[in-house]
Amino acid sequence: MTAGDTIERGAVAIAGVGGNGAVAIAGVGSAEGFASATAGVGGNGAIADGVGSAEGFASAMAAALKIGKIVLTSPLILAPLAGYTDVAFRRLCRDCGAGLTVTEMTSVKGLCYGSRNTRELLRTAPNERPSCVQLFGSDPAFFERALALPELAGFDIIDVNMGCPMPKITKNGDGSALLSDPAKAAKIVAACVKAGGGRPVTVKMRIFGDAIAFARALCDAGAAMLAVHGRTPAQRYSGAADWDAIGNIARALPIPVAGNGDVVSVSGVRFALKTYGVSGVMIGRGALGNPAIFSGADGDYFGGHSGGGYVGASGGDYFGAANGGAFSECRGVAANGGYAGAACCDSFPDSAVGERPLPPVLRHLNYLTEYFPDRYAVTGMRKHLVYYLCGVPGAKRLKSKIAALETAAGLFAELKSALYQNGGVFT
Ligand SMILES: Cc1cc2nc3c(=O)[nH]c(=O)nc-3n(C[C@H](O)[C@H](O)[C@H](O)COP(=O)(O)O)c2cc1C
Repeated sequence: MTAGDTIERGAVAIAGVGGNGAVAIAGVGSAEGFASATAGVGGNGAIADGVGSAEGFASAMAAALKIGKIVLTSPLILAPLAGYTDVAFRRLCRDCGAGLTVTEMTSVKGLCYGSRNTRELLRTAPNERPSCVQLFGSDPAFFERALALPELAGFDIIDVNMGCPMPKITKNGDGSALLSDPAKAAKIVAACVKAGGGRPVTVKMRIFGDAIAFARALCDAGAAMLAVHGRTPAQRYSGAADWDAIGNIARALPIPVAGNGDVVSVSGVRFALKTYGVSGVMIGRGALGNPAIFSGADGDYFGGHSGGGYVGASGGDYFGAANGGAFSECRGVAANGGYAGAACCDSFPDSAVGERPLPPVLRHLNYLTEYFPDRYAVTGMRKHLVYYLCGVPGAKRLKSKIAALETAAGLFAELKSALYQNGGVFT
């Protein structure tokens, strides 16, 4: 893959996200470096094969991703994005076909000390099976203790974060700091395997000079799968993900590797699966505003618009600016038995919707209200709307209206009306 292999609408769209959009609508600082992180994805580094059709997607997806004895229904995994991939968004992504979703990173020390905030991160949706918890820390004993807690008993897969490059994490020896201590990292994996009661243990790591040797050490310690983000810790989120480096790790290991970094389209998924010897693809920012990426939606469900990626200006977006793509996408997934349908998310039932599943953007808000207080639902949704509205005509006006809304019911009504006005998904 070369840097020019990109057909993404997101290249333009996401640049806006990293800029004013985030401030204007979300009004949140979000994770450190997130603006620059999002600005990087979908640009020249976005990975894609340049083929607009869905042809080949099914065959690329056909190979099962096996984590220990667990076989995923899809090799596509939603990456953990602290502050974004809460239980509501994960549920939506599962509706759309994600084979696995992972909790936001959860401190083993926080769990052992009984922190309520930490425990909150462990909530899962009914459709999150198999379920996966991501833990972070650097003391094997704390991992063992945490895994003995009832709070972690229900998880099917245990993932360890060895990739987070943020100083507040690495200064304690956690996250990507473990990459420089393979012996300790292996001890953590072994401790989790021992305390996990037969559940598979996976690791999310980054590339670096000795990544292959490091990955082998984790494998020898009992890791069942690795997710590899193709950037070094020093890069944080800048530059393009190095998929050749991911491929080299994948080919060197006897266990499955899921590649991660800059995949923002179905085309990118297909290219990664075909080209780099990975068994799965983990998608983070590319799922924001576009959970349908997990359904193989571009090409087919977006009415022939290739690229997928971020909901963009060229049509087929959730706000129906061009061809009501969101609803056709819903139908497509429903036909595959994907969506749980409107009945399961009826905080704001709407007679105009009838039997149809709600479009993802509205279902997202419904799920938020199901799990969180109104205030969180509104602020949480605003953060995601930055992505849903990327490149949508009239978004600026809508964003300023939304910024003034304080209740989820008001937000739902406004979004629904915007959908109607654009001649979109309900007409
Ligand atoms: C805001 C934000 C939060 C993140 N939180 C986590 C996390 O909790 N655990 C983790 O392993 N990685 C986390 N990451 C890294 C992502 O999982 C992923 O590796 C990275 O965004 C590259 O993938 P992408 O290009 O598909 O987004 C985070 C990244 C961002 C931008």
